[in-house]
Amino acid sequence: MATERTFSIIKPDATRRNITGAVTAMLEKAGLRVVASRRIRMTREQAEGFYAVHRERPFFSDLVSFMTSGPVVVQVLEGEDAVALNRKVMGATNPKDAEEGTIRRAFAESIEANSVHGSDSLDNARIEIDFFFSADEIVG
Ligand code: CMP
Repeated sequence: MATERTFSIIKPDATRRNITGAVTAMLEKAGLRVVASRRIRMTREQAEGFYAVHRERPFFSDLVSFMTSGPVVVQVLEGEDAVALNRKVMGATNPKDAEEGTIRRAFAESIEANSVHGSDSLDNARIEIDFFFSADEIVG
């Protein structure tokens, strides 16, 4: 196992319900360390750019609208096997499929309002971290 960094977003459904601390506590309890964090309101351009890989999907327009509907917290998480560990603690994209003990099982409202995003690979983690953070904002 290697120490990795991954990228996380606490989504607007979670900021709206004031549960960013509860979500972060679950990340920390799983063994992840928050080494960068910023609360932002994503612009449409940022959301479209960040989710460009989903541009052709039928849910793209709704996804961009949702992600710009309220504040989000963008984070860099560090830990052993951080990419896989974060995906494990997030749970399945659709909360109906998410296992007990996961963030989405505990908090997600729907497949769209599913409380958190996490990078799906180490390569994408690097791209997504670079999208929102400069090197001097990440303090490990
Ligand atoms: P996320 O990990 O942020 O990446 C893309 C997001 O699209 C995903 O989480 C879901 O919240 C959202 N989404 C909305 N509808 C769907 C769908 N039908 N299938 C997959 N993802 C969806």
